[in-house]
Amino acid sequence: MTALTWTDTLVLDNPRMDTTHREFVELLNAVAAADDEALLPGFRELLEHTVEHFAQEERWMLATGFAPENCHQTQHAMVLQVMREVEQRAAGGETEFIRRLVPELASWFPQHAEMMDAALAYHCAQLGYDTTEEALRPGAAAPALPQAPITGCGSASCA
Ligand SMILES: [Fe+2]
Ligand SMILES: [Fe+2]
Repeated sequence: MTALTWTDTLVLDNPRMDTTHREFVELLNAVAAADDEALLPGFRELLEHTVEHFAQEERWMLATGFAPENCHQTQHAMVLQVMREVEQRAAGGETEFIRRLVPELASWFPQHAEMMDAALAYHCAQLGYDTTEEALRPGAAAPALPQAPITGCGSASCA
């Protein structure tokens, strides 16, 4: 069973982010297709990947003028909290929580990517922040950074 199909609408023209997002979709689909034995290990792999995925974006946010408590980061924290709770439940034998969460994640992810992640990718590109090197590109001087910390995610959902 495929929970989420990768489509061009998920491509945000940030190669590093796109690679991470493809991995997320693959791991999510692996969980969706897992038999009972493979379910919890597969979900743990997805959880570990998601921790890194979110941390990567949050490093970029921090480096490009976002306040730590901005709404994109808050949404990451909420998703991780739910995933950790489900992992705990499943570790206690209630693996059905994983099966219930998979379609939720599959419907959450495209919205998140197309709004918050797309806004972050655009912000980094506009600023000249190289997300592969995790540094401003030569010539993209620090004064281009926002004067005050950004508390929204920059997407239309924050307008
Ligand atoms: Fe993302
Ligand atoms: Fe994100």
